Amino acid sequence: MKSSPFFAIALTITGVGMAAAHVASAEPRPEIASPIYGVTLPEGYRDWKFIAPAQEAPPLDELRAVLANDIAVEAYKEAALPFPDGSVLVKLAYKRQQSTEFSPATVPGAPTTVQVMVKDSKKYPDSHGWGFGRFIDGKPVDAAQHETCLACHVGNVKDHDYVFTRYAH
Ligand code: HEC
Repeated sequence: MKSSPFFAIALTITGVGMAAAHVASAEPRPEIASPIYGVTLPEGYRDWKFIAPAQEAPPLDELRAVLANDIAVEAYKEAALPFPDGSVLVKLAYKRQQSTEFSPATVPGAPTTVQVMVKDSKKYPDSHGWGFGRFIDGKPVDAAQHETCLACHVGNVKDHDYVFTRYAH
């Protein structure tokens, strides 16, 4: 097959496109990464292992579930603190709802937030090694909300590596 000028142009365009994509991925992406920390929703988190449930009283009135990646699960099982770099914890939250199928039962209603904590002691030396992200509908919330994360975790659970959730056996 003879090489056509169209083929050469297509190759050039593909090359430029790949270079642009590479540059874009190296830059912070405010549409997917949390302000202050640059934390993104980890891929596949919904299938991670279950650590414990939680519930918050009204007005938030939520059901929650904390999940963890394999590195954090190992640390939990060995009760090894601090959590090693690479640990990621995810908290899923839902409106609490009475079951319409069986009234004594409580079920998850609409999802509210997904929150993430990433351990990276080199990247986050100023926040005790943890980066924080809060997401609604897959998008990070504003910087003002992210300014609150550290104080509450430091204020209440500094002796548990700034993590509230204990492994529910
Ligand atoms: C006023 C206190 C408070 C603030 C502010 C707060 N958290 Fe938490 N966080 C908690 C509590 C309490 C839990 C334990 C689970 C529960 O009760 O929902 C928790 C749990 C978590 C967990 C699961 C790991 C753990 O520590 O148990 C993640 C992830 C998390 N929070 C992320 C965030 C992020 C991100 C922010 C800021 C956008 C934030 N938190 C702000 C109180 C707080």
